[in-house]
Amino acid sequence: MLNDSTILVTGGTGSFGKKFVQMTLEKYKPRKIIVLSRDEMKQWEMAKTCDPDLVRFFIGDVRDRDRLYRALDGVDYVVHAAATKIVPTAEYNPFECIKTNINGAMNLIDACIDKKIKRVVALSTDKACNPINLYGATKLASDKLFVAGNAYAGEHGTRFAVVRYGNVMGSRGSVIPFFLSIADRNELPITDPRMTRFMITLEEGVKLVWHALEDMYGGEIYVKRIPSMKITEIASAVAPQATQTVVGIRPGEKLHEQMIGAEDSATTFAYDGYYKILPVINGWALSEERIKGGTKVPEGFTYSSETNQEWMSAQELAKWIDANRASLGIDA
Ligand SMILES: NC(=O)c1ccc[n+]([C@@H]2O[C@H](COP(=O)([O-])OP(=O)(O)OC[C@H]3O[C@@H](n4cnc5c(N)ncnc54)[C@H](OP(=O)(O)O)[C@@H]3O)[C@@H](O)[C@H]2O)c1
Repeated sequence: MLNDSTILVTGGTGSFGKKFVQMTLEKYKPRKIIVLSRDEMKQWEMAKTCDPDLVRFFIGDVRDRDRLYRALDGVDYVVHAAATKIVPTAEYNPFECIKTNINGAMNLIDACIDKKIKRVVALSTDKACNPINLYGATKLASDKLFVAGNAYAGEHGTRFAVVRYGNVMGSRGSVIPFFLSIADRNELPITDPRMTRFMITLEEGVKLVWHALEDMYGGEIYVKRIPSMKITEIASAVAPQATQTVVGIRPGEKLHEQMIGAEDSATTFAYDGYYKILPVINGWALSEERIKGGTKVPEGFTYSSETNQEWMSAQELAKWIDANRASLGIDA
């Protein structure tokens, strides 16, 4: 589907965006991928690694509607990865987080409908499920905006879906690079030894976005089935010799993350390797084309990092870190 198409990635210079561009050019033959983001330096650095005939760079802010209309000229598909995503940053700068994650989503939805974009996938996070921090709350609002966007796209034909996943191993600002950066101190801070997190690789995230682009009828939230890890095991994988010092849970942090809450179970279907939460609006959760091939999950089902059936061990993570030394910035 992506062959011979023009794709725009908001936040294309971020961890996800760079991997999406690289993998999409390896697998498909798009006409062009457009990267939209704000910082010229990140674009400049990324441009050095890209074929200028295939990857174009567009400075723009998702808060700026006019700029989005210009950037979307001739585009077929959009992947929306731009976000303010660091939990404490969002707590201390709530207006800014809302302007990017909510106002930005509204701008993009309007612009995509008016420019008759065919399909749009917006990235979401486990923190959007029963959120307790502003980042999660803004991403929940964003998810709902994209789901509802299908209802008012009308005859313009644009279809929107959401891909939701958990902690991306090695992404900017996440726990593995943080632990690696201080591993030589031989003491790692552990918020709470009971804490668990979902773990996903960027490659798996990109593949789920490709699948959503192919599979969507509009309004679905795709949730990847991925393993969990205890925070203590993550620390052991990074620095087995280091002492683990408990520093206490931070404001806005959950002990365990959830991707599907009990209230979602009524419209959630299981597939090979992922779940789909179908939208409650317009009776879409009953639509056969959206359900096709899925098995309804039991009432009250939750998908939580604590009760997950699949776990990653410290040894498995240590092997992954070793195989990804270059991208994690570890000297060989
Ligand atoms: N990383 C994770 O563990 C994780 C887990 C679950 C979900 N997600 C979701 O996945 C998506 C991508 O995350 P990521 O890890 O790739 O984030 P990232 O590395 O921080 O990248 C964010 C990207 O968005 C751009 N951006 C930020 N604000 C913008 C704005 N107002 N207008 C245009 N571009 C803007 C940034 O570039 P500039 O600053 O130059 O604009 C950058 O290219 C996000 O939606 C995030 O919520 C991430």
